[in-house]
Formats: sequence, C-alpha cells, structure tokens
Amino acid sequence: MRHLEGKRIIVAISGSIAAYKMATTIRLLIKAGAEVRVLMTPAATHFITPLTLSTLSKNPVFSEVISEESWNNHVEMGLWADAMLLAPATANTLAQLANGLCDTIVAAVYLSARCPVFFAPAMDLDMWAHPATQANVKRLIDHGNHLIPVGNGELASGLSGEGRMAEPEDLVGHLHHFFGESQGKPEVQQTMAGKKVLITAGPTHEPIDPVRYIGNRSSGKMGVALALEAAKRGAHVHLILGPSVLNPAAAHLQVTRVDTAREMFKAASGAFEQCDLAIFAAAVADYRPEQTADQKIKKTEDALRLDLVKNPDIAATLEKQKQAHQRLIGFALETQAGEEHARQKLNRKNMDAIVLNTLQDEGAGFQHDTNKVSILTAADNKLRRFELKTKEQVATDILDVAEQWWPVKG
Ligand code: CTP
Repeated sequence: MRHLEGKRIIVAISGSIAAYKMATTIRLLIKAGAEVRVLMTPAATHFITPLTLSTLSKNPVFSEVISEESWNNHVEMGLWADAMLLAPATANTLAQLANGLCDTIVAAVYLSARCPVFFAPAMDLDMWAHPATQANVKRLIDHGNHLIPVGNGELASGLSGEGRMAEPEDLVGHLHHFFGESQGKPEVQQTMAGKKVLITAGPTHEPIDPVRYIGNRSSGKMGVALALEAAKRGAHVHLILGPSVLNPAAAHLQVTRVDTAREMFKAASGAFEQCDLAIFAAAVADYRPEQTADQKIKKTEDALRLDLVKNPDIAATLEKQKQAHQRLIGFALETQAGEEHARQKLNRKNMDAIVLNTLQDEGAGFQHDTNKVSILTAADNKLRRFELKTKEQVATDILDVAEQWWPVKG
C-alpha cells in the first residue's frame, strides 16, 4: 500500500450500520502511512462513536459545521485533502450531494473539496434499486466522483441483495490504486503482455451524399475504454475506431480511423488473423444507402426514397475465420428482451462472450460515461450481472472475464 504514504485523506461517514466498517478502514489507512481526518453526519454518530474514530485517526472528529466551542472551517479541510472517501454513503447523503444541498459538515466539505472524491454507497436493496437513488449515483459520477460499487449479499434488514457497502480492504484498495495510477506507477499487472487485441469501436457513418449520412448515437467510449485498459495490461492493441470525438493515445495502442462499415470491415479483416482476442464493440450501421450521390441532393420532390442495402456483419464474417487460440467478444445493445436476444447473438455469431447492455437501464448505453452490463459466456452459459459503473470499470470487468481464458502460469 505504498501509494498511500503521506496522503491526506478525509473519511466522511454518514448514518448507516455499515459505519462500523470504518474503524477497520481508518486503521488500514493509518497503517498504510496516510494522514486521516474524520467527518461524520450527526446520524453517523449513532452507529459508531467519534471517540473510537478520533483515537484511531489520531485527529479530532467533526460532526457539526458549528459546535458550541468553534466553527469548523470546511473550506480549509476541503483544500487540505488529497482525497475524500465518503463511506458509507447513505441514500439521503447521496441525494444531498447530488443536488448540492449543504446542511452537514460532510456536505459542506464535499462542496468545498478540490480533491478526487470516492463514494461507497450502503443501503437496503430496494432503496439502492430505486430510480431516484440510481439517478443520484449517476449524477455524482457525472460530476467526476468515483463510485466504489456496492456488493451483493446479506443486508442489515435481513434481506439479501445488492446494497452492501464494499469491505474496508476494497475501500482502501480503490484509493491505493488511484494514487498509484496518478503517480505514473501503475499497479496494474501486465497480465495481457504478449497478447494481441483487436477492438472495433464507435459508430459508422454511411454517406447519402457529400454532406449527409446515416449514423447512430454511439460515442465510442466503451470500446476506447477497453482499448486503453488492455494496453495498460500490456497487450498490443489495434483499435479500429469509427467517427468519434475521442482521440485515444497510449503505449502499445495502434489506432486506425474509419468512417463506414465497409472501411471498418476491411481494417478489421486485415488485423484479425494476428489477434488473440477480438472485441466487437462498434455500433456498426446494419444498412447503407445503395447509392451515394456525388452532389448534394436538392430539395425538389415532396418525398425522398432511399434504397438501403445490408452492410457486411464484421463479427459474424470474421468468426468464420476463427483459429483455435482466438477468443471473440461481441456486444448486444438491446431495447427489449435483452437476455434472450443476447443468447441468440452469442449463438448466431459464435462468440465466446456477449456483453449485454440495455437502453432500459438508466445511465447505460450510448453517450453516457457509465454503463450497466451483463456478460454472457459461452463455455459455461453463465450470465454475470454487473452494477452501473464507469465505462473504465466496465472495461476492467470485461477483460477480467477474458483473462480467464489464458490462465497466468505460476
Ligand atoms: N456487428 C458487426 N458488424 C455489423 C453489425 C454488428 O461486427 N454489421 C457486431 C457488433 O459490433 C456487436 C454485435 O455484432 O458486437 C452485435 O451487434 P448488434 O447491432 O447488437 O446486432 P445485430 O447483429 O446488428 O442484430 P440486430 O440489429 O438485429 O439487433
């Protein structure tokens, strides 16, 4: 845990039974060499005593902006910190922070802080699943905060499901990982060293005339996140990227820009034979105009008819050339009956795995920085469901699944 040495961490606790985990978390942070200051909402003090936490953190604990003796300077605290860890983050505190409300010292310091903020929600499964909570989580992520995902398991209510706060080791691990990355000393193991990865990403644009095209809302973010994560893990990555505003660059990353499905097909075909893993993350236009007009089509008729023809299916065509060592991952973006369609696509396109996301999930799909996916793997016919996460974290989950196909020796 060397990346936490000397780091100044604000631990902000709100009122959930999971607050008991914060004693261990603070001990781990101190042991890792961090300096810790603790803030609590008044409700949190019912779950764990400030005395315990001030003893462990070796600093006074604040639970009021104004106490009988003093006014606690939230601005100074916000500027002091290298990172703020809000854990447990209750539904109420999430709602306050997402909306800029400010009636606790936790909220005041959060609004003043310039440092990265990590938040670890904790609540009952129905509260967690409620659209209001999910919207607040998404908003906090959109504001640049880092979600530490909830776990699945027994809850204090006696129910079982999603909503459990991450364990202390996990909370500290997130901070450690973050500081490792930002100091340019990635802890990421080179688990894909020597592997060649081909990724298609982004939309395609199918020209109608020199100024118009048929396209879709794909941003390319998911495929780009996969390419960067695979490169970080030491793979040689060839990214075939359609028209996207993103312009990724990294060591071991080769990018080929294309516009149309046929260009993407050609570029991917050229790279396929060499690759160990192909990930088809592109939202390829299924059809293109049969004719592309040389000149801008003028508005002369009342109606305009476009004849469309099918584009090549890149994944399905390349699958037919698959060699024994190669593994293929497809995506399925569905608006209804997601699981059923994903299973059909897995079989039809003969993929080793399909990543399913449905536009029914708030915060998932095109244009968002977050995604909520399920991964269906062919070998064991298992469907793994994941939480709403940043696309970077989703990329990590997908590659973790893929890495199981090449067990690391030793
Ligand atoms: N795909 C592809 N080439 C195409 C169409 C799709 O490589 N011309 C890939 C996508 O990158 C994705 C998978 O196939 O990995 C499924 O794409 P999707 O658009 O969800 O499915 P389609 O096969 O187009 O089926 P439908 O549009 O009927 O859902």
